[in-house]
Amino acid sequence: MSLVDRPCRDLQPALPPALAVTLFCLGLLLAAGAARAEPVGQSLPAPVPGTTAAVYHASAAARDEAPPSLCLQAPLRPDGPPPPGWSATPSLVPAFSRVQGRPAVFLPIADGTDLYGTGEVAGGLRRNRTRTVAWNTDAYGWQRGELSLYQSHPWVLAVRRDGTAYGVIADTPERCLIDLNQGIRFEAAGPEFAVIVVEGPTPQHVVRALGALTGTMPLPPRWALGYHQCRYSYTPDDRVREIAEGFRKRAIPCDVIWLDIDYMDGFRCFTVDTNAFPDLRGLDGELQAQGFRTVAIIDPGIKLEDGYHVFDSGAALDAWVQTPRGKPYEGAVWPGNCVFPDFTIDRVRAWWGGLYGQFLSLGIDGIWNDMNEPAVFNVDGHTMPATNVHRADPDLGGTGTHARFHNVYGMLMSQATYEGVAAARPQQRPFVLTRASHLGGQRWAATWTGDNTASWDHLDMSLAMVLNLGLSGQPLSGPDIGGFVGAGDGPLFARWMGVGALLPFARGHTGKGNIDKEPWSFGREVENTCRLALQRRSRLLPYLYTLAREASLTGLPIARPLFFADPADPALRDMDDAFLLGDDLLVVANVKPGPRDPAAPLPPLSRGAWTEISLVDGDQADPDLPRLFLREGAALPLGPLVQWSDEKPLDEIELLVNPDAAGRAVGSLYEDAGDGPGYRDQACRLTRFTYEAGKSTAVVVEGEWPAGDWRVTTRAVGGR
Ligand code: GLC
Repeated sequence: MSLVDRPCRDLQPALPPALAVTLFCLGLLLAAGAARAEPVGQSLPAPVPGTTAAVYHASAAARDEAPPSLCLQAPLRPDGPPPPGWSATPSLVPAFSRVQGRPAVFLPIADGTDLYGTGEVAGGLRRNRTRTVAWNTDAYGWQRGELSLYQSHPWVLAVRRDGTAYGVIADTPERCLIDLNQGIRFEAAGPEFAVIVVEGPTPQHVVRALGALTGTMPLPPRWALGYHQCRYSYTPDDRVREIAEGFRKRAIPCDVIWLDIDYMDGFRCFTVDTNAFPDLRGLDGELQAQGFRTVAIIDPGIKLEDGYHVFDSGAALDAWVQTPRGKPYEGAVWPGNCVFPDFTIDRVRAWWGGLYGQFLSLGIDGIWNDMNEPAVFNVDGHTMPATNVHRADPDLGGTGTHARFHNVYGMLMSQATYEGVAAARPQQRPFVLTRASHLGGQRWAATWTGDNTASWDHLDMSLAMVLNLGLSGQPLSGPDIGGFVGAGDGPLFARWMGVGALLPFARGHTGKGNIDKEPWSFGREVENTCRLALQRRSRLLPYLYTLAREASLTGLPIARPLFFADPADPALRDMDDAFLLGDDLLVVANVKPGPRDPAAPLPPLSRGAWTEISLVDGDQADPDLPRLFLREGAALPLGPLVQWSDEKPLDEIELLVNPDAAGRAVGSLYEDAGDGPGYRDQACRLTRFTYEAGKSTAVVVEGEWPAGDWRVTTRAVGGR
């Protein structure tokens, strides 16, 4: 049985390296034996200026019979033979083969090439010599090296020694082995698949090309960039009130409080337990008055129960995924025996989306889609059988087995949710968080990294996970700050909050029955660190929002690997306990237990000087907080310290500048109403700040937002 056939969670621990190499070589031999004719390659219009791209199929017949792509945002429009010169570059031309009857492709890599991407993966940033099995898995308590987590991104970014880059998409939703032990190898279940290759002068070009091909995230509401507080579960209503009050009375910034499954009546989605929450609408109103938003969880498993409105309306629509015998598939999740909407059918997505109208009228601001691998309890592989049947619409390829649609189930659920929420409240921007997703899923939902563990190793891995998700098209992600499984302790929590508050999506969360994990749960000292960490985030909100807007337009990540600063510097390729926020801010974390070694060398950023900065009083003196450095030549717009993102209009800006040798620094600021669609009609403003000869000036370079002006104070750092 190969890795492509086996339930992934059976694969722990990974095969011993010697055996893996033997199996790999065997695969190559078999592949060579069954080698086929030349692939058919066609060039594609440049996804973004400066890049070139091509699509390859195993044969003309494979191209003509290819099922529709489930990850691309639009069908490809090939326009000629592959780019000149590619045929002489083996690393850009996939060699197609069959391994034990399955389609496979291989692209060798040149010495000095580093590999990234592959989505949500548990390990280091650099993916050379790793294997991942793209198969969405309810991976509770996952470990380093776990082969499959909750999402599937059959995509690899390759950065050559000289800093030029290329990327490869295996355009298949099927279970797919991504083997990066020697070069790039994909081996998938299911039919032949297309391979899309993009080349560019920098990794940034290639990541932007990925965004052009698979779509970019919609601009989130600004509040989604604030801090979120969750646990499984805050219940009853008074506990929610207590948490809200806890933040405000301690002046710890927080934007959102989350409702996990215990707000529901018997875990029935779209219902409320009126014993625990007798007046949810009233509670939401109280929270809103204190500046909080609420996000509530909705899972795909629908309790099989006559008389339950969601079951009845779905059944009337014949909405459920079926067994091979044409009966609704039944599987156990939180409420007991459940059926599962078939999100591959447009009318089912529309029905599902329609359920949100009434639900949101309770005052809920955002939706959390969980368990959508889909997770099923007490069955092999923790999901529904691969033989189940989806009656997919023709644009998704028509009826097919769960094996084909498993990896896109969560993504299609979040699409249905996003579209339903958008239709129900057109004047607000949807915010959807999903656990399961696929390449391209950023078009509908942000994500978090699932049920991690309160350990130093998980804190360490969380950075590389967020970075690789960003390099795989998903800019808005973060871990459960503090760890979902297990207690951890104060020092770990403080350190995690310090880093987590600087990741694109910042949410504290923990499991049922676990100890309390609010910022104040570990005593005064940890509380102070958490306050400083979240005050930093609060001051960075204008910058984070500017980056989110850039990500929504270009697909560039918000949190970026260090090598983005100098893609040709080999010393930056493997570093993942430091990262960049945008281009201008360097975050150096200490993710190992024990005090920071004051003599520890800083990341060897070779281009430009970086100057250490403070964002709030006392942050530099706190050894649990990451060190922050501003790029030479950068001007960073900081907002006022607020307890929630729209506590007050942005009327003062502190421009932190680190002038370059010529005494110059530049930066940008994006602003709009923070919510709603007006920004699409120019109700927004992009300002370019320039600092020169000791003075800063601001010029609006885009948009017509008639907002009031801010007062700018400039603070120069860096000694120039
Ligand atoms: C899953 C989610 C977790 C959530 C729990 C209960 O384990 O990953 O975040 O708290 O379900 O809904």
